Amino acid sequence: MSTQLFEGKEHASYYQKFRFEPPQEIIDLIFSFVDERLPKPYGFAVDVGCGTGQSTRILSPFFEKVLGTDISEAQIEEAKKAPGSPNVTYSACPAEEVPVGDASVDLLTACAAVHWFNIEKFLKEVDRILKPRGCLAFFSYLPHMEVHYKERSEQMSQVFADVENILAPYQHEKVHHVKTGYKEIFESIPYTDKRRIESVVTKIRMPLSGLLGFIQTFSMFQSYLRSEPEKAKETIKTVEERYLQIMGTSSIETEVELWLRNVLVLASKP
Ligand SMILES: C[S@@+](CC[C@H](N)C(=O)[O-])C[C@H]1O[C@@H](n2cnc3c(N)ncnc32)[C@H](O)[C@@H]1O
Repeated sequence: MSTQLFEGKEHASYYQKFRFEPPQEIIDLIFSFVDERLPKPYGFAVDVGCGTGQSTRILSPFFEKVLGTDISEAQIEEAKKAPGSPNVTYSACPAEEVPVGDASVDLLTACAAVHWFNIEKFLKEVDRILKPRGCLAFFSYLPHMEVHYKERSEQMSQVFADVENILAPYQHEKVHHVKTGYKEIFESIPYTDKRRIESVVTKIRMPLSGLLGFIQTFSMFQSYLRSEPEKAKETIKTVEERYLQIMGTSSIETEVELWLRNVLVLASKP
């Protein structure tokens, strides 16, 4: 059911346009964990719930082969259209049934995705496909983001908080995993070599138009749009007007800075 939240073609094209790559700090933490456990060169990485591939393509320089998988055909279609490297391929399939051999994967990643899966089945599948000492990395940004602009950051962040409140009734129950920093998922991982990091804050500069686009990629915004299309469009228009007024500009391309707090779960199979 949850996966249907990402099936729409228009939603997928928003994803392609407005989702950004995983933060460098998170990538560095993943690779320092992997470096301590696996010999180089690395062979095979799988990015599960890859959406339109932003979290998949960044893996290509480190591995011989990278596979991005997603249950949504529309997302995979967009991922395939994006410029990429020849060692990256994509497949539309559920995270709980990844079409790769037993003990074949060095690193499995899931960016802003693991909370949507059937965790019990997925962790069994992860255990099947990881090599001995193979690693997993589940990460996501957390709610309550800050928006910074000159000395008006408090007002800017308040607008974002207001949007989160409007969208709250449309939030899927599985998002509780994100709100609790993936604690339950971390506890369910059957390996002793594991850690959970919640201290990484990333700051991303983007035009105001990018921030408005990013809000529209949220699954809860898409649910709002489906159930109350006029109100949802009106909300975005109001948010844009409030931001422009606070910023004292008429240009939607004026840059703002989004501060995101992240959670990262790392583990290695014995
Ligand atoms: C928030 S998006 C994240 C996409 C991408 N990793 C990124 O960081 O931009 C979550 C993705 O998980 C996918 N998804 C949800 N449930 C899934 C499942 N059971 N198996 C595979 N993919 C799933 C959705 O289709 C969606 O593309």
